[in-house]
Amino acid sequence: MKRRPEQATLRPLQPQLGLPRCGWPKFFNVFPATPTGGSVEPDTRALPCSCRSSSLAGIRLIFAPLGLCASRSIRYRFHVSASCDTIGIGLAGFGTVGSGVWNMLARNGGLIADRARGALRFEIRRIVVRDPGKEREVTAPAELFTTDWQSVVEDPSVDVVVELIGGTDVAYELVAAALVAGKPVVTGNKALLAERGGDLFALSREHDTPIHFEAAVAGGIPIIKALQESLVGNRVSSITGIINGTSNYILMRMTEAELDYPAALKEAKELGYAEVDETLDVNGWDAAHKAILLGTIAHGFLIDPEEVYVRGIEYVRPLDIRFAKDLGYVVKLLCIVREHGDGSIEIRTQPSFIPKSHILASVNDVFNAVAVRGDAIGDALFYGRGAGQDPTSSSVVADLVEAGRLLRQGRGSGHRGFLPYRETGTLKPIDETETAYYVRFPVTDRPGVVADIASLLAEAGIGISGTHSPVDPDQPDAEFVDMVFLLHTCPFGTLKGALKKIEALDCVTERPVVFRIETL
Ligand SMILES: NC(=O)c1ccc[n+]([C@@H]2O[C@H](COP(=O)([O-])OP(=O)(O)OC[C@H]3O[C@@H](n4cnc5c(N)ncnc54)[C@H](OP(=O)(O)O)[C@@H]3O)[C@@H](O)[C@H]2O)c1
Repeated sequence: MKRRPEQATLRPLQPQLGLPRCGWPKFFNVFPATPTGGSVEPDTRALPCSCRSSSLAGIRLIFAPLGLCASRSIRYRFHVSASCDTIGIGLAGFGTVGSGVWNMLARNGGLIADRARGALRFEIRRIVVRDPGKEREVTAPAELFTTDWQSVVEDPSVDVVVELIGGTDVAYELVAAALVAGKPVVTGNKALLAERGGDLFALSREHDTPIHFEAAVAGGIPIIKALQESLVGNRVSSITGIINGTSNYILMRMTEAELDYPAALKEAKELGYAEVDETLDVNGWDAAHKAILLGTIAHGFLIDPEEVYVRGIEYVRPLDIRFAKDLGYVVKLLCIVREHGDGSIEIRTQPSFIPKSHILASVNDVFNAVAVRGDAIGDALFYGRGAGQDPTSSSVVADLVEAGRLLRQGRGSGHRGFLPYRETGTLKPIDETETAYYVRFPVTDRPGVVADIASLLAEAGIGISGTHSPVDPDQPDAEFVDMVFLLHTCPFGTLKGALKKIEALDCVTERPVVFRIETL
């Protein structure tokens, strides 16, 4: 006699599929075959003991047939539909962003529930930190804290894991374990996704469990969702971003207050705009990690960080900032992701000259901006706070709400276009990328210097659009001067070849300094 789905026995396939001890097994055989799918209250006796918990109360298994198995049963895929009252969060990290998420849920949790007609409530049930005894500005009940992240991932009362510890080692293990356990992950960790995203996205796909990462790029600016959702119908030809607030602040102070780099960095640290260890911010890698994520979303293939050209702001000198000003430009740490006619993608991060009149030139302080050019939308600009406790928490909480909605609907990630969707893609070699250039040559002040440099540039086929060599009023007869050349657009490789020859001239006293002049 055929049994109704409600009475069906669920038999976990866990051993056959090598599923982990903790978390939710994803496939069940339903006996006898019920071809239509449906939903049942789980018979918890059929579930692995680690899944038999009070958190099952009110949860329904929503299933749909995947096809006939060798036996007479039908193999079903199911997702947990968290129709219980509250979604449990395991919060890994209670630093700047983690404690901000705690505060924001406390402040606006009711509002979020109201907006979802009461259907979305969140509760932080466990908190992972390095030092539970540390004094903290934001307090949470002591019993929530642990140093044992595994126990948090395995805790049946935790439905979603939020990773806000940073780094690429423990964070990787934690995120991977959560995905394998079928628990959606929310993270703000751009380094983790840019460096090890390939493996994590593969796990996400394999276990049909989403990774949400709005906070990983440009803090509070919803650029990830904009690209994944609002602009999903566009072919994106370029993304240009100022996406590191610390560098932007330092460059602004070097421009406006004429500070040198060490003084501007010191000020940024005193104001809390730079980390104690500022390396990743000023060497360009923080911005590059974000650019890699933007490029992956826009162009669909994994980008190897080793193939990305990255330069930071540590070597920017007040002299170049001043010359830029004289010539009508400002210096910004720019990320460029650009599609070329041959389908190759140019991706690079470096301090560049942009015209004073361009809208990105007015992005100051620690603000971020991302300019997107799509074939349908044309130009769009996203502007706002790219870091900090509240703006970043805003993005984390938005992801939590999305994760909660998906859990409620009993759906997996659905791979909504943000996971890599192309097997391969080609990056344009940096030597083939073309812009105009500003090149400053420290030289001995003697007749014929300009002609010597110009003839080697001409030999390489590089046109000169201008020269600039202001006399220092304090040292009108100085022996050494700086000679600036503005060069027409040419491949970077061609410029490098010419500079090698010019550096060998006896009048050139130090390595030439190069900035790209961007046409945006
Ligand atoms: N800060 C921002 O404005 C911002 C903006 C966008 C994205 N993000 C990203 O968000 C993440 C968190 O940044 P944050 O500024 O909040 O960092 P943070 O202030 O340094 O906080 C890190 C937290 O993680 C905990 N932690 C670190 N290593 C751990 C380990 N091995 N095991 C257990 N707990 C560990 C720390 O514990 P203790 O408290 O005990 O030390 C601390 O609570 C990073 O990936 C960052 O790139 C930050």
